[in-house]
Amino acid sequence: MKFSENAIKVLERRYLSKDEEGNLIETVEGLFRRVANHIAEADKHYDSNSDTKALAEEFFEMMTNLEFMPNSPTLMNAGKPLGQLSACFVLPVPDSMDGIFDAVKNAALIHKSGGGTGFSFSRIRPAGSSVRSTGGVASGPISFMKVFNAATEAVKQGGTRRGANMGILRVDHPNITEFIQCKKDSAEITNFNISVGITEKFMEAVKADTYYDLIDPKTKEVVGQKRAKEVYDLIVDMAWNNGEPGIVFLDRLNRDNVVPSQGEIESTNPCGEQPLLPYESCNLGSINLNAVLDEEEGKFVINYAKLARIVDSAVHFLDNVIDMNKYPLEEIEKTTKSTRKIGLGVMGFADLLFKLGIPYNSEEAIAVAGKIMEFIETRGREASRELAKTRGPFPLFGESIFKDEEPIRNATVTTIAPTGTISIICGASGGVEPLFAISFIRNVMDNDELLEVHDYFRKVAEERGFYSDELMREIAQKGSLAHVEGVPEDVKRVFVTAHDISPEYHIRMQAAFQEFTDNAVSKTVNFPNSATREDVSDVYRLAYELGCKGVTIYRDGSRDLQVLNVGKVK
Ligand code: GDP
Ligand code: 5AD
Repeated sequence: MKFSENAIKVLERRYLSKDEEGNLIETVEGLFRRVANHIAEADKHYDSNSDTKALAEEFFEMMTNLEFMPNSPTLMNAGKPLGQLSACFVLPVPDSMDGIFDAVKNAALIHKSGGGTGFSFSRIRPAGSSVRSTGGVASGPISFMKVFNAATEAVKQGGTRRGANMGILRVDHPNITEFIQCKKDSAEITNFNISVGITEKFMEAVKADTYYDLIDPKTKEVVGQKRAKEVYDLIVDMAWNNGEPGIVFLDRLNRDNVVPSQGEIESTNPCGEQPLLPYESCNLGSINLNAVLDEEEGKFVINYAKLARIVDSAVHFLDNVIDMNKYPLEEIEKTTKSTRKIGLGVMGFADLLFKLGIPYNSEEAIAVAGKIMEFIETRGREASRELAKTRGPFPLFGESIFKDEEPIRNATVTTIAPTGTISIICGASGGVEPLFAISFIRNVMDNDELLEVHDYFRKVAEERGFYSDELMREIAQKGSLAHVEGVPEDVKRVFVTAHDISPEYHIRMQAAFQEFTDNAVSKTVNFPNSATREDVSDVYRLAYELGCKGVTIYRDGSRDLQVLNVGKVK
């Protein structure tokens, strides 16, 4: 099989079944057989005579050839008693004690099963308002976020993986300035990513430099006004400070709400790529773009016929997941099965550009992104319409925005996930992100240092005759090829990494993928440490103009605990 040593390590540590003493009781092949067999079973629901053996083989091949990988919960739980297969959930948080603590409990159940949860806290009455039943004073949304955070912390130990949350507050909530600053101290609310829910009205008020209304969610009354620009500058300042909060354009999420009759979309999952209705869940899967490149006389070309075949099979797979999933709550099962959203995306985009010889920060790369994603989106929808012919459209199709079109099986088809772990399993670069480093030094046990070099870069360096461990160490130290002597100029131009790419190109790439993605795109815009608040503000404005659904930025060195470091030995 094609799995790298690293991939096998990750699979053994976190994915393969173990007995009570922690001994492995499953092989890597066994895992993918288990997943493939289980997911293929769903075809029996539609045709009791269907050949699920052949289908299971197709799914098995697709995964073990590293062409497609479903999200982690599917790999971990398919065909096992827990059986929870989705990565993404959104839960409502109503303005009542009962409702809030139901949500805490439900989130704990989801975390235990490996899913991530998103919440809007916008319905919670502001701090200081009265509580009729007790005559007391409400403590406000941020105090409750801390409860969710503590609950997540406690479940960490027992579950398959640690909990992860998204917390959103509308910009017109009276407690918005407290929310914007609630993670100013990086040690606070650590189990949440937070985003400000921005409205078009607010953006217009920023542009015109006017005041906008703050609305009490309980009474719906205007309880104050704020100068939009001041609030906007505070968001920019905090994001510049340590990357939090992000922003999310709520009106845009709702413009793409396929079934507005079911209410408003208030939140996304933890990494922002999946907007969902309250109680809705979604399962994701990603195509490894390395797998769709053919090498012809030393040149790489995209094999679109192969891509089409993978898309068809992946859509079939993801639709089956909805049927085989064991949902943590009845309400979630009902909502999820009424829209049947799936999220097919890509990983290995940066690798693909390296192999095509196209710099990430170029017009050509933007064009390639659009072309690939348009192809996946179009083909994915065709595959979903094909499924609808035998399985019927999603149950709420008749009241969806598609109702006058050809029936389709899934309310959404495409999502660009970060592919944090599954990209390691596939040996691919994550999602649509550029590579963070071409080479880096990994500290392993006993203070040993392991030099890791991007596979394809190593190959090119060897072929072109400039490979040496010493040079790779220098590249690891500097974090970029830009100022390394001994690397040919044309190689430097192609093998760009996150910090060689201007924030504008990061956003333009996000927008290029967003244009052909039903849901949203997980992307971090990297800034150098020297970036100014104005630079951050410019990127927000550009993202807004280019139709992105949200923005997350990160300024190098702005957090004490940074996962990835340029030029630092890890
Ligand atoms: P992968 O399938 O593990 O590679 O997951 P991704 O990195 O693509 O993340 C996709 C989604 O899975 C995220 O947006 C979250 O909803 C969820 N997720 C990712 N990592 C975690 C985690 O560590 N814990 C939990 N509870 N959810 C996660
Ligand atoms: N909104 C959206 N996405 C976020 N991430 C972190 N915080 C937020 C946020 N507030 C995403 C990053 C990265 C992924 C791992 O998590 O953008 O892509």
